[in-house]
Formats: sequence, C-alpha cells, structure tokens
Amino acid sequence: MDVYEAVASRRAVRRFSGEPIPRETLERVLSAAARTPSGANLQPWHVYVLTGAPLAELKKRTAERVAAGDPGDEREYQMYPSELKSPYRERRSAAAEQRYTALGISREDRRSREAAVAANWDCFGAPTALFCYIDRDMGPAQWADLGMYLQTVMLLLRAEGLHSCPQMAWSVYCRTVAGAVLPPPGLILFCGVSIGFEAPTACHDRIDRAPLAETVTFIDG
Ligand SMILES: Cc1cc2nc3c(=O)[nH]c(=O)nc-3n(C[C@H](O)[C@H](O)[C@H](O)COP(=O)(O)O)c2cc1C
Repeated sequence: MDVYEAVASRRAVRRFSGEPIPRETLERVLSAAARTPSGANLQPWHVYVLTGAPLAELKKRTAERVAAGDPGDEREYQMYPSELKSPYRERRSAAAEQRYTALGISREDRRSREAAVAANWDCFGAPTALFCYIDRDMGPAQWADLGMYLQTVMLLLRAEGLHSCPQMAWSVYCRTVAGAVLPPPGLILFCGVSIGFEAPTACHDRIDRAPLAETVTFIDG
C-alpha cells in the first residue's frame, strides 16, 4: 500500500469484527514501527499489547466501573486545555457533530451519546489493544515522539488491512489498565489503541480537516 493511500484510508474506526489478529502480523507492524524517529533516539514509548483473556478481563473490569457511574481515576495529564479557544473549540464541536450525525444520534439523545462513549472501554469490539505509556519525567518533545510512533503504527496497520482507533479515553481508567499490564512505577498511560478488522456494519464517517491555509503558511519569494 502506498503511503498516501495508508494516510487517506486511516480513520478512527469504532466498530471492529472480533476476528483475531495473528501474533506475527502484530510483531511485523511493531518491529517496523520501531524505526520511528525520536529526539536523540530516546524511543520513549513503552507499549503493552493485550489480546484474548487478559483484554476480555480488562474490558469486563472497566465496564463494571462505568456501569457503577465511577467517574474514573485522578487524571495523570490534561487531555485538553480547560478553556478551549477558537478555532479549536469549533473544530471539536464540528467533529462531534459529524460523528454523531453519522451514527444517527441526535444532540438531545444523551443516553445514546453516553453509550457511544462507553463503547471506548469495550475497545469498540476490537480483539487487540495497545496501551502506550511514557515516563512521567519526559517533556513535551518526548510526548511528540510518542505521537509519531502511534501514527507510524496506525499507518502500518493499514498496510496489513487492519484499522485502529487511538483512545485517550483509556486514561480515565488508567488504574484498571495498570492492573492488567503491571507497568513499572513512574510510567504514565498516554492512550490505548484499539486494533482490528473493520466490522461490515461500521459507519463510514469521514471527519473533515481545516483547509490547508488555516494550518500551513508558505513563506517564499
Ligand atoms: C491521541 C488521540 C486520542 C484519541 N482519543 C479518542 C478516544 O478516546 N475515543 C475516540 O473515540 N476517539 C479518539 N480519538 C480519535 C479522534 O477523535 C479522531 O482521530 C479525530 O476526530 C479525527 O477523525 P479521524 O481519525 O477518523 O480522521 C483520538 C485520537 C488521537 C490522535
């Protein structure tokens, strides 16, 4: 698969078939993703791959917390600035609107919206999930390295016919994830990434992007 095609066909898929992914495929993707660049080659990512019974157990434990109305663990990092200013605020609402319209969920239908959010903690039915950690004392540059790593993984997954959904939502229940993966002390969970084959019933929402001139400035003669 051509890189442009991998980039264009990657999207956050939120309905997976349960079809298992062969271990060799995951090893091929993660071995190739190890070539991701990072400042001073620190390679600051720590990745745990969960599948089978351990993932099923994690989903079950998290679902119990969600069902009990548990608001989650003390956050280890701020997902978004508390006051999201323009144009980010508008982009966030536009993306939510596009997503819920594609799902046929109205603004007033709070219960369906909550169910759509809760599907995060079932990994949207995916048979495999990665959990990406970073050392607590790493700074913004190393967090950027982690983002590059995750995008590399997600593009390589496309080359294998697989889809993914990155999920900061898992950081809400980071202690339950830690109970499943037992990370050494000093690591922060950045996000989970659900991985699988897209379900035939998945909705084909395509979230817009800002026009190039809004985010890129060419300075030339
Ligand atoms: C770091 C990161 C965290 C994300 N967390 C979540 C999440 O918790 N749940 C979710 O459904 N989507 C999550 N997303 C997916 C974004 O909502 C999605 O990438 C964005 O709306 C653009 O849509 P697209 O990826 O389908 O083009 C996350 C994406 C990134 C990059």
